[in-house]
Order: sequence, then structure tokens, then C-alpha cells
Amino acid sequence: MKAVLAYSGGLDTTVCIFLLREKYGFDEVVTVTVDIGLPEKELRRAEERGKRYADKHYTVSARKEFVEAIFRMIKANADYEGYVLGTAMARPIIAEKVAEIAKKERADAIAHGCTGKGNDQLRFENVFRQHGFKVIAPVRELNLTREWEIEYAKQHGIEVPATKERPFSVDENLWSRSIEGGKLEDPSFVPPEEIYEWTRDPKLSPEEPEIIKIDFEKGVPIALNDEKLDGFNLISKLNEIGGKHGIGRTDMIEDRVLGLKARENYEHPAASILITAHRDLERLVLSRRELKFKRIVEEEWSELVYYGLTNEPLFEDLNAFIDKTQERVTGWVKLKLYKGLAMPIARHSEFALYSEELVSFDTKVLDQKLAEGFSTFHGLQGRIYQQLKRKL
Ligand code: ARG
Repeated sequence: MKAVLAYSGGLDTTVCIFLLREKYGFDEVVTVTVDIGLPEKELRRAEERGKRYADKHYTVSARKEFVEAIFRMIKANADYEGYVLGTAMARPIIAEKVAEIAKKERADAIAHGCTGKGNDQLRFENVFRQHGFKVIAPVRELNLTREWEIEYAKQHGIEVPATKERPFSVDENLWSRSIEGGKLEDPSFVPPEEIYEWTRDPKLSPEEPEIIKIDFEKGVPIALNDEKLDGFNLISKLNEIGGKHGIGRTDMIEDRVLGLKARENYEHPAASILITAHRDLERLVLSRRELKFKRIVEEEWSELVYYGLTNEPLFEDLNAFIDKTQERVTGWVKLKLYKGLAMPIARHSEFALYSEELVSFDTKVLDQKLAEGFSTFHGLQGRIYQQLKRKL
């Protein structure tokens, strides 16, 4: 019996390798680590541990797919209750790669290390089931706690990054880093600086603001400070620059799919900068009604991603709408980065609906006297109502 395990190299998934043999009787465990823009160090660590503990290990790249997904997130100004959706968007992509290997390996089941309390189990399994695989979730099925896992790991001579003193569960990819667990589970507890790795404390960030320019083509960022960059490099660079200025920290209460509320901490400098810039450019080129309607679409879109339901036909329908709106989202935005904030300070597009000639205080192209007629009718019903109200 052979199991393929989605493997991050962290505590949960490493413990799973041993449990799959010990408690489930698999005689072969194959680990798969999917690169969705992990730091080189993390990736090598997962690979090294996979090779050491499992019978066979694969490291596969999904960078290209994930960057494409990030572009979709930018076009959709992805945001679920204030969360930039990094983990959520990565899961189905990781799952597809794992299922591919499972097919190649003729595995009897696919396993993952998610708990029964979070969203990731749903996102992974939707894809595994789509490919017809039996799913095994040891942490959920054996009802394990992190404390038990740490003890189990020790007994089995497994080196673990998490310790009882610092038992944070971290998930990171190119778009965001999430930190949960341990003391952070108390929403009234103020997180210590040490939980952050991508962002500097704004107090210690540069005293001088930094001005950057981002070029977009059809809603997708293509250049930073006039230098053309591919998606991966552009996002990595913005994570670095934004992190230096302390941009992109979120501490929030989030509604998980299961209905549980959770306290979540995130870091996402590039996401904050790019979505702020993208929104700003959209305000220049999209019509008032497009903007208003797109907010509704964005919310629905983000919820589908959060729920791991990107296989829904509605997801494709919404993407078609979004792509149509992005045809004109071409131009650039300048932002000032300073002390935790990314502020748009200038923007330009050949498709701007904005007209300086019409709006300026200094021109007469539009006869402002004509507005008097408009104004006469404006608010008519309200004025009548205010009169009638006296009779109540
Ligand atoms: N709350 C986020 C989400 O549902 C982040 C989850 C992080 N996952 C983890 N295994 N630490 O997407």
C-alpha cells in the first residue's frame, strides 16, 4: 500500500509520515513538496527532511501556476474579510501537483497534514476527490493536538522546528505569510515582534519615504520603476522593498468556512502595494457603475477562493467579467512607501475616464451654468418628504 503525502516539512506533515506507516499500515510513503514561491531555504529544508524520513520524495515547482493565480488575485483585488488569500489560493494549485504525482506513483491514497478545524482540509480534498483519490487526514482522524505531535516527534527522533515554547503554525508562499497558534490564539494577546519575518517594525523602518512606480498592462503588473520584470521577480522585489518599510501586516479575526472564528496574523508587503496600486488605477479608468458592480464580483470571487471552490462554474463566469474590465487597466501608478503605508501619489492611463479639461477649475469647455437645471431636480423627493414629515 502506497500513500502520497502533501509535504511542507513542518511539524504536522512530518509526523504524518510516521503515522501513515504506524497507524495506517502503509508500507510506502511518498512525500511531495510543491514550490509556490517558498524561500530557497524552506524548500531545501523540506526536501532534505522528505528524503530523510519518507521512502521517496518529490519537489515540484508550481511557481508558474501560482504567479498566474496571483495575477488573477490582483485583477480581482482579492480580499476575504481583509485577508489577501495567499494560502487559500495556493492550496488547489498544490493539490493538483500532488494528485499528478499520486497518479504517476499509482498511489492508493493521498494524505495531508491539515487539522479538522481549518479551511485547508476542504481546499485540498476538493481537488484530491476530483481526481478520484481516497483521502487520509491523520491529524484530523486521530484528533491530534500540536502538543501531542511535538511529543510524538521527539519520541521518534524527528527534528521539529516548532517547540512548545514557540508553537506557531506558519504557512508561507510568494503572496503571503500566515502565523497562527500558540499564544496568538488569545485575541486579546498582543503579538510579539518575533512572529514577523517579512516586515520590519514600522518604528524601525527608514525615516525617508521611498517612491516607486508600477506599470500595469490589462490589470497585470509588468514593470517596477520602469524596469520590466516577470511576475515572480516583481513580487519578490516588492515583498523586500515593502517589508523594509513595514508594509503589509494584518492582525484580524477571520470567519473560517466551518463557522469558527479565528485570530489570524499575516504579512504580505507586495500584496498590499500591488492591490493598492491596482485599485487606484481602476478608479481612473473604470466607470462608476463598473467600479460599484465589480466590488460585488470581487467579494463573491474572494469567497470562492477562500472556500476552495475555484472549480465552481461561477468562478469561471466571474473571471470572464473581471478579464473584460481589465482590458483598459493599463497605465502606471506611483506610490509613496513610508512607515507601514503604501500611498498612491500619482497615476496615468491612456484609457482614463478622467478629463482634466472637463473637471478643471480653470476651463470653460463645459458650461457650468447648465448644472443649474440638473440641480433643480436633484433631491426633489427628499425635499417633498421633509415638507410632508411635519404632518406626521
Ligand atoms: N487562515 C488562512 C486561510 O485559511 C491561513 C491558513 C494558514 N494555514 C496553516 N496551515 N497555517 O487561508
